Amino acid sequence: MKDNDVVMVSACRTPFSRFESPMTSLPSIDLAMVVMKEVIGRVGLDPKEVEEIYYGSCVVAEFALETDVPARQASLLAGFPAEVFSVTLDRACCSSLTTLRLGMMAMRAEGVKVVMSVGSENMPRTPHLAPGLRSGTRIGHIKLVDLLFELGYKAKGFNSVAVDAGEVAVEHGVTREMQDEWAVRSHERCLKAYEEGRIKVGEELTPVVVPQAKGEPVVIDRDECPRRTTREALAKLRPVYGSPTVTAGNAPPISAGSSAILLMTREEARKRGLEPLATVVAAVSAATEPRGIAVIPAFTIQKALDRAGLSLDDMALMEINEAFAAMPLVSTKILAGGDEGKWRRLQEITNVNGGAVAIGHPVGASAGRITMTLAYELRRRGGGYGVASICGGLAQGEAVIIKV
Ligand SMILES: CC(C)(COP(=O)(O)OP(=O)(O)OC[C@H]1O[C@@H](n2cnc3c(N)ncnc32)[C@H](O)[C@@H]1OP(=O)(O)O)[C@@H](O)C(=O)NCCC(=O)NCCS
Repeated sequence: MKDNDVVMVSACRTPFSRFESPMTSLPSIDLAMVVMKEVIGRVGLDPKEVEEIYYGSCVVAEFALETDVPARQASLLAGFPAEVFSVTLDRACCSSLTTLRLGMMAMRAEGVKVVMSVGSENMPRTPHLAPGLRSGTRIGHIKLVDLLFELGYKAKGFNSVAVDAGEVAVEHGVTREMQDEWAVRSHERCLKAYEEGRIKVGEELTPVVVPQAKGEPVVIDRDECPRRTTREALAKLRPVYGSPTVTAGNAPPISAGSSAILLMTREEARKRGLEPLATVVAAVSAATEPRGIAVIPAFTIQKALDRAGLSLDDMALMEINEAFAAMPLVSTKILAGGDEGKWRRLQEITNVNGGAVAIGHPVGASAGRITMTLAYELRRRGGGYGVASICGGLAQGEAVIIKV
């Protein structure tokens, strides 16, 4: 343990919403403000004590409704002083781990001591675009573009992520049936985690209060998407976006939500009498050919392990974001290196409280969620190492190894 270790001292997220939810009336900037205030409030920090804020959000068209620099807007509106540095970045679904990694870099390279990493997204609020309207339509129909549809990747000739995930999964021997089975387990594990108090307000969750035009505000204090389901029910669903395997059942729902993690040096946490939630051992990024979205978590995890001088056997738990159920299956299979028994063991320790298929995937916020859920679960189990990894559009990856 070193004084300049980077430690997580506070972490929380909002519940993740359904497509139709009162929560989706709140801009992603407002959702971010909820967690930004809560994450410092829990450890008694004044906003002026946060030196830098790194903020990830990747559905640009949604925050475009409030125009640009959502990090700056959210930090000013949430009461952070005008002098606090902030940056907004888009690294697709990797964003809120990239923010954590950049925050660490600032701490290591520039001596910054207190950093906030935020991710926020409100996908259902994404507006349709009317391109060309400004220059006028001389004759013909006005075209509306839905940026949520296939997340826009096809506009420049890339595949939809569901196609890439499904095709690459099949190439790795991961069938539709396996993906459906993983999806059922994701819901079961998540519902069990709720029943047993492992996903709860005051720890991972902080409620969202949604004002109503008339009457009392609506309070949302749990994820809205987990449900009881069966393999038989999932088998009936038709593939989406032209994917060979991906359906509404083994894909994550389109969601709103935000997450925040407060980082300090160990010395700074000690000075303030704060007990770290976890030590950040290594944080790395990677990328591969654009269709390799299901394999990149495996490569990124391996890179993080190499960086930390650790092996998979050292990991008590893993989180691999369920961008689709295909991702944890393909990536654990690659990590197992052809050993069936090891593949099963890795699946057992991966996403033990469910994943994005059940919880939802507000893309910019999910990387923060998997990191904090890993930290809280490791604490509950008495400690150890864990690794969290996420893939992002066009096969980017991010992974973090933490120790509790
Ligand atoms: C897959 C997707 C298109 C589905 O959207 P949708 O059609 O609006 O989803 P719905 O929730 O209405 O589900 C469709 C149907 O499947 C059913 N269904 C969904 N999950 C189910 C489950 N776990 N068990 C049983 N049925 C389920 C719904 O009940 C619904 O049935 P209905 O038509 O009879 O009402 C959308 O969620 C999506 O695009 N997800 C992926 C987002 C994404 O790409 N994220 C980034 C990854 S990198």
